[in-house]
Amino acid sequence: MISTNEPMATSFSRHTKSQDDSISIEDSALTLATEKSRTARRALAFIVAGIAITSAGHYLTPPEYRLWHAIFQRLYYLPVVYAAIAFGSTGGIVAGIVAGLLYIPHILTTWSHEHDYAMGQYAEIFMFLAVGGVTGVLSDRERRQRKELQATAQQLSRVYRELQNTFEQVRRADRLSAIGQLAASLAHEIRNPLASIDGAAEVMEAAQQPEEVRAETMSIVRNECSRLNRLLTSLLDFARPRKPEWREVDVQKVIDSVTELVKHSAGKGIQFERRTGDQLPTLRGDEEQIAQVMLNLTINAAQAMPDGGKITLTAVEKNNGILIQVRDEGAGILPEHMEKIFDPFFTTKDTGTGLGLSVVHQIVTQLGGTISVASNEERGMTFSLFFPPSTGDAA
Ligand SMILES: Nc1ncnc2c1ncn2[C@@H]1O[C@H](COP(=O)(O)OP(=O)(O)OP(=O)(O)O)[C@@H](O)[C@H]1O
Ligand SMILES: [Mg+2]
Repeated sequence: MISTNEPMATSFSRHTKSQDDSISIEDSALTLATEKSRTARRALAFIVAGIAITSAGHYLTPPEYRLWHAIFQRLYYLPVVYAAIAFGSTGGIVAGIVAGLLYIPHILTTWSHEHDYAMGQYAEIFMFLAVGGVTGVLSDRERRQRKELQATAQQLSRVYRELQNTFEQVRRADRLSAIGQLAASLAHEIRNPLASIDGAAEVMEAAQQPEEVRAETMSIVRNECSRLNRLLTSLLDFARPRKPEWREVDVQKVIDSVTELVKHSAGKGIQFERRTGDQLPTLRGDEEQIAQVMLNLTINAAQAMPDGGKITLTAVEKNNGILIQVRDEGAGILPEHMEKIFDPFFTTKDTGTGLGLSVVHQIVTQLGGTISVASNEERGMTFSLFFPPSTGDAA
């Protein structure tokens, strides 16, 4: 019962929503039409009042005030031009004709004895029509262009919306395929240690194993468990990165603490060098996350030098931002591996999860920075992180 009711409720609510949408579109169209007709009425009132007042000025002013008549005569242009702007060429010409029709009786009654002056006034009426017509044509053209622009803008916004939809679909498809790949690699990563643990269990099951074999088997089980544990921790970091807590980061302090940490686990033959500029710009970011990035890079550097060497950690100012580098003297990365090193689960190590650099990439990008890697001239690799000056929660 419930399952049959639910879709109905959904479709009903969807229907109501689309009805609401169309009502609101109709409402806004109606408001626009009302607003337009109100503006047109106001313009018409101004034109009628302008022509009426100017004509009244002519009829009520005695002929000896010639200057006033000359002024009134030119005042007709105001309503005529306004009519042309508001209603186009038809509006301009009609206003010109109305002004002329109201003006002609005044010329006939008052100025017919002054032939030249009267002719000048008739010519002025012709000018009303010409000015009204030309202004109207120009205003028509401007209106047409505005309409075309509006249509183009609407078309562009429609195309933009369609593009956005397509982009969303592509992103969704991308995410799904990434999840599929992730699941496949994860299954592979988990199956290997499980097989080892299974084998170890079999060995333990066999009765009367010498003490060394038992110890060795137990250490395999422990190693595999800790590998699985690390895999899951990195996977969680990668899959559910927490939001950065934006604060000022003391890069030198981060470098020192990372060096201290790695020193203990790295072999004796590894030396560390810190090179930091005197006046480093402030780096805004998440200190813990930046420490994790540095740790992953430094551990990789140490692991790349099983026979020892030097790891150099640098932090300097560059283009008002901060450039942080981790340089090693290890075996380097094969050219065919370069493209894959940031891929989740790509590893060339027996016990690696292949998530270290993926996490690094994710964190650096989330903090608004960039990461790049290059082979050193002599030997080893240099990983470079750049955080631009604007990096921060606002970014
Ligand atoms: N400094 C480096 N020198 C040489 N190879 C490197 C260096 N850093 C990374 N790599 C290569 O990139 C691969 C991926 O590194 P990443 O940190 O993602 O995983 P991992 O180190 O193999 O495993 P995990 O970080 O889980 O221990 C490594 O297996 C290694 O082949
Ligand atoms: Mg690593």
